[in-house]
Amino acid sequence: MCRAAEKRRANAMKRIKIIIPSVAFACFARHLKFEACVTGKIGLIHFMQSDRRIANLALIGFMGAGKTSVGRFAAEQLRFDYLDTDDLIVSRTGRSIAEIFKTDGEPAFRALECQTVAELTNRTKTVIATGGGLPVNPANLASLKTHALVVCLWASPEKIWERVKNQTHRPLLHDPDPQKKIRELLAAREQFYKQADVLVNTDIRSAREVAQQVVHQFRLATSSR
Ligand code: S3P
Repeated sequence: MCRAAEKRRANAMKRIKIIIPSVAFACFARHLKFEACVTGKIGLIHFMQSDRRIANLALIGFMGAGKTSVGRFAAEQLRFDYLDTDDLIVSRTGRSIAEIFKTDGEPAFRALECQTVAELTNRTKTVIATGGGLPVNPANLASLKTHALVVCLWASPEKIWERVKNQTHRPLLHDPDPQKKIRELLAAREQFYKQADVLVNTDIRSAREVAQQVVHQFRLATSSR
């Protein structure tokens, strides 16, 4: 965890009052002007302090959850810029993600990710799509929460496999049993994805529909501020 990010995390944690992972509080939350998003499989409500700064929209979620396509649609609707943390890393290093993993190893890639996220804190009006493993480092998520509404795009392992099976650019899925790898990684990461402010199930919706939901949540979160 990089030091600056650790400090930001501590500050962000101070600002977030309480997290209640239960759908039962939806009406109560709305009454209190907190945002709630209840999805088919997972309900999640994060209570946010009304003074939390929300200048951007950040999308987190597993590989194949639709962050890129949803992010582009959402940016179009909000008239925001769009950026992707993986693209920033590629343009900065001049190397592909697969190459970084192969030559320098995953920890080196994660350090680049952390550095990249830490540099986004002054952005405004930007939709930020993130790499699937980025929220596993709590400092990254805390950093995003200092300036963005964090929305997790959730997808089941089956749906993820359907979406990624014909793609070859993801080093973590270069595995003898990629479906098992997806299940394992998703299970290990679920706890981190659920730290998002809003969780949207993408299994049964098109990218455009998901983007509409995400934009709706963003507008709710930023109205009356
Ligand atoms: C990764 C996801 C990828 C990329 C890298 C590692 C992960 O991004 O950051 O291959 O750990 O889940 P996408 O989620 O955009 O595929």
